[in-house]
Amino acid sequence: MSDLKGVLSEAVGAAFAQAGLPPELGRVTASDRPDLADFQSNGALAAAKRVGKNPREIADAVAQALAGDPRLSAVEIAGPGFINLKLTDAALGARAQAIADDPRLGAERVAQPRRVLVDYGGPNVAKPMHVGHLRASIIGESIKRLYRFRGDEVLGDAHFGDWGYQMGLLIGAVMDENPAVAGVVDALNAGQTADLAAFETVSLADLDRLYPEAAAKGKADTDYRDRARKITAALQDRQPGYFALWQRFRDVTQVALQRDFHALGVDFDLWKGESDVEDLIDPMVAELDAKGLLVDDQGARIIRVTREGDKKDLPPLLVVSSEGSAMYGTTDLATILDRKRSFDPQLVIYCVDQRQADHFEIVFRAAYLAGYAIEGELNHVGFGTMNGTDGKPFKTREGGVLKLNDMIEMTREKARERLHEAGLGEDLSADEFEEIAGKVAVAALKFADLQNFRGTSYVFDLDRFTSFEGKTGPYLLYQAVRVKSLLRRAEAEGVKAGPIAVTEPAERELTLTLDAFETALTEAYDRYAPNAVAEHAYRLSQAFSKFYAACPIMTAQPAVRASRLALAQTTLAQLERALDVLGIAVPERM
Ligand code: ARG
Repeated sequence: MSDLKGVLSEAVGAAFAQAGLPPELGRVTASDRPDLADFQSNGALAAAKRVGKNPREIADAVAQALAGDPRLSAVEIAGPGFINLKLTDAALGARAQAIADDPRLGAERVAQPRRVLVDYGGPNVAKPMHVGHLRASIIGESIKRLYRFRGDEVLGDAHFGDWGYQMGLLIGAVMDENPAVAGVVDALNAGQTADLAAFETVSLADLDRLYPEAAAKGKADTDYRDRARKITAALQDRQPGYFALWQRFRDVTQVALQRDFHALGVDFDLWKGESDVEDLIDPMVAELDAKGLLVDDQGARIIRVTREGDKKDLPPLLVVSSEGSAMYGTTDLATILDRKRSFDPQLVIYCVDQRQADHFEIVFRAAYLAGYAIEGELNHVGFGTMNGTDGKPFKTREGGVLKLNDMIEMTREKARERLHEAGLGEDLSADEFEEIAGKVAVAALKFADLQNFRGTSYVFDLDRFTSFEGKTGPYLLYQAVRVKSLLRRAEAEGVKAGPIAVTEPAERELTLTLDAFETALTEAYDRYAPNAVAEHAYRLSQAFSKFYAACPIMTAQPAVRASRLALAQTTLAQLERALDVLGIAVPERM
């Protein structure tokens, strides 16, 4: 590890070893009191407990061993035995230069890259995406980028929901409403040929309207539900009429999904659906049976997954329903098998709403029992909800579910307003203005989401999200664009960046912040927590603001100017990198 934290941990560790203590005690962290020190080690306190000595004595011994280190300008002992470390300007300058020269801007790669699959977004056929899919898309996209940036081989898969009971429900509902469509479906099912033109009248809006009605009817009316289940089973058997209508559903949905994902800057390597594993299901069921895992349960076939010591009763995995259909969990299990055979991932990350935690626990346990994955390889990375001001999952004013497309449009409109208010983008062409408004909107939505730990729910507040002030995406874009314009000006004046020398407090602070990129990335990576990177981006732009206010660039002496310009360039590059990990793109100007 070559970040300062790593380098100093090694030095302090060696000092602990000299004092006859375990080197791990030397681990340093950023100082709690940046006014007094840059880094600190609390190891003497832990050591004192272990060996029953006075912590200050241990700290003294360690400090003495560190005294000759040329990188340190001060080693001080504070309070009960904290060791406070301050770096020399030269050491900080060298680190800033190393980050500036590093194409990875100070970020390490994982020592052992893995094959990682991220299952996220989770859109469904025949249902427009709603705000619930927003978080799955934003967080999943960021985790995919983060893992890729760390050096893993990563695939993102949308895992399209296209094969369950909801398909049977909708097919029935569309046929009830539209006799021409029903005629074609029946004819095809009877083995006749028919003209598919009637299907063209079926739109996503129809499906969207019919689905909630059909779902409600299915809950209230057992005959209706039974019919939907039968249709689902027949669809999964590829009855030609149902299958053809289902394909129409898929097609009309795909267009809308691609539009929404594109608008959000979300893109998948694999666009696979539940239906893609259909061929694997029969052989898989036979194999599960042969392994003795399947149990008959009132006409259905299940896998029991409870374990000794379970705190709560997990229901079994329903593999085959009593109608003979594959269920949500069945396709998930078959998908695990499919992925194992194709990509053989060492880690699978499911970025899905926290409310599906039990579902995944059940599927994962079944997969481990079946030998389709090794214990620990499958991970559900859940998240909380985006709420309205009432603290409940966000709804429209009419109490309905807000479609993702409408939310994106709303945010864009607000972004345009905000840009006008701030007098930004006024001199740009209409096209460029639109592009910027789009980027501001995406930054607003993504940063508002990613700045919280994913498990936390947050309140949708478009006014705050889109503000150019405070901890927001638009603020970060604005800061980055400011640096870009500064660099353009320097270039126009023929001023070039040069070797970095760090002297001013604001330069020291900026360098320490640049150095902390690695720590933020590691934390985000280990905890599936992009908020650590969001926090870093925010701190970096704040540190830059202070630096820019305290350290004039263009008017400084040539050597100082060149150094500060290099710091500005490096900051911009790292900020853009961090934002890219969050899935946020920075416009050229604003
Ligand atoms: N389509 C599902 C939903 O809307 C989410 C899919 C999540 N991924 C998975 N492998 N089950 O709830």
